[in-house]
Amino acid sequence: MFGRRTNDPGAQRRLPASPSATPPPAAALAPQSAPQPVSAPARHEPVEQQRHHSEEYYDVKTTVFNALIDTIDLTQLAKLDSAAAREEIRDIVSEIIQVKNVVMSIAEQEELLEDICNDVLGYGPLEPLLARDDIADIMVNGAATTFIEVNGKTQKTGVRFADNQQLMNICQRIVSQVGRRVDESSPICDARLPDGSRVNVIAPPLSIDGPCLTIRKFKKDRLTLEQLMRFGAITPQAKTILEIIGRVRCNVLISGGTGSGKTTLLNCLTGTIDHDERIITCEDSAELQLQQPHVVRLETRPPNLEGEGEITMRDLVKNCLRMRPERIIVGEVRGPEAFDLLQAMNTGHDGSMGTLHSNSPREALSRLESMIMMGGFTLPIKTIREMIVGSIDVVIQAARLRDGSRKVTHITEITGMEGDIITLQNLLVYEITGEDANGKLIGHHRSTGIARPAFWERAQYYKEDSRLAAALAAAELLDGNGNPIGEKHG
Ligand SMILES: Nc1ncnc2c1ncn2[C@@H]1O[C@H](COP(=O)(O)OP(=O)(O)OP(=O)(O)O)[C@@H](O)[C@H]1O
Ligand SMILES: [Mg+2]
Repeated sequence: MFGRRTNDPGAQRRLPASPSATPPPAAALAPQSAPQPVSAPARHEPVEQQRHHSEEYYDVKTTVFNALIDTIDLTQLAKLDSAAAREEIRDIVSEIIQVKNVVMSIAEQEELLEDICNDVLGYGPLEPLLARDDIADIMVNGAATTFIEVNGKTQKTGVRFADNQQLMNICQRIVSQVGRRVDESSPICDARLPDGSRVNVIAPPLSIDGPCLTIRKFKKDRLTLEQLMRFGAITPQAKTILEIIGRVRCNVLISGGTGSGKTTLLNCLTGTIDHDERIITCEDSAELQLQQPHVVRLETRPPNLEGEGEITMRDLVKNCLRMRPERIIVGEVRGPEAFDLLQAMNTGHDGSMGTLHSNSPREALSRLESMIMMGGFTLPIKTIREMIVGSIDVVIQAARLRDGSRKVTHITEITGMEGDIITLQNLLVYEITGEDANGKLIGHHRSTGIARPAFWERAQYYKEDSRLAAALAAAELLDGNGNPIGEKHG
């Protein structure tokens, strides 16, 4: 054991200055005054209902924690791997409990150990939430309030931080891992956890009630079109149509609101890309998990504290045109890079894809127009629209419905222009028909009866035409519940 086991007041001076490599100072790690779930709950009930510890438990925890911090050499601890560090803490804490004559059940002692290890080594009260695979988002609104999203529903948890300082230190620890800093002078920061989860921090004075930390948990099990079908987000026919859209190199825009499943859908769609293609991805925070062997992943960079060194999405998209891409995938189009993406799609990089925040396929196109106009391109609106028509083949709309389920609500193609207006044609739409007793929405995906989509020739070229025709025909034959009925058309 390496713990110094002394009461030397100089111990604190040896604490690491940078939270990136080592745990933050003891004061920042004061134990939480609120209950901490220790392991992932078996059921998805609101965490609020989980066991609460007694005040006595927290008093003991504070005592043991302070004794631990006085005893242990944190710089040495930081050199160990996490399993060895946990073992070390476990030994010292057991010793402290004995020396201080603390009466605790074995189970309580285990929980205490787990809590303390999380505080010293990990992300404190966040650890149990990070360990759960069923959580999509973790939203910390200041030290006292944490929400999570499970199964499409947002729920409040009992997770609390000791104070805003502890929360801020954890935020700092997270962002420093990707070489960034968050404090009053630079209060907004995007980062990534080592497991790939996407993180945003906004700190006071911008967030009024304490630091806000939002984590989009990285899904270890990459969702596939097959799974989306099993979840009811798409029908088997829609799955086939999406597979064909990807395979025949349609240029695709995936549109949807926040957390509607755009990135997931994009990820699934990239699964249809051949393994011999050179794919370049451009993202603000790398989330995509492409499975092909020839992928180059690019990520934007925010400006440094002096306001220099920013690399924008536009820079990345422009640069990737010089990298001989066969497909360009843009995680999220939000600004003038829309222009470069459209140009790329128009000039031989067909099969490119991107996502965009918007509530309908029609709105997605006007958002594209605005992005191009706001980017300072002085093009007549008709030219921009012609460019959109010449570039994008299909818009796929994703939505999170009010019952928490996520659906593909439209597969829509861009067919041309009538005067100044872009014409759209829905191939498949999701219709809500009712609601069951549990508040779950009832609906079905319905084909609009189009037998020959505008990308029919492409489908023929790739020998996917008969599969496409069959899927479109089968999609028409749905009963009121969206289940296929009868035999296929002859
Ligand atoms: N069809 C689906 N069924 C169940 N869960 C889904 C489905 N699609 C996405 N999810 C889950 O929903 C969460 C949000 O998905 P995703 O990150 O794809 O959304 P997004 O629209 O890209 O969000 P943002 O706007 O924040 O970028 C993820 O946890 C993802 O696993
Ligand atoms: Mg996304």
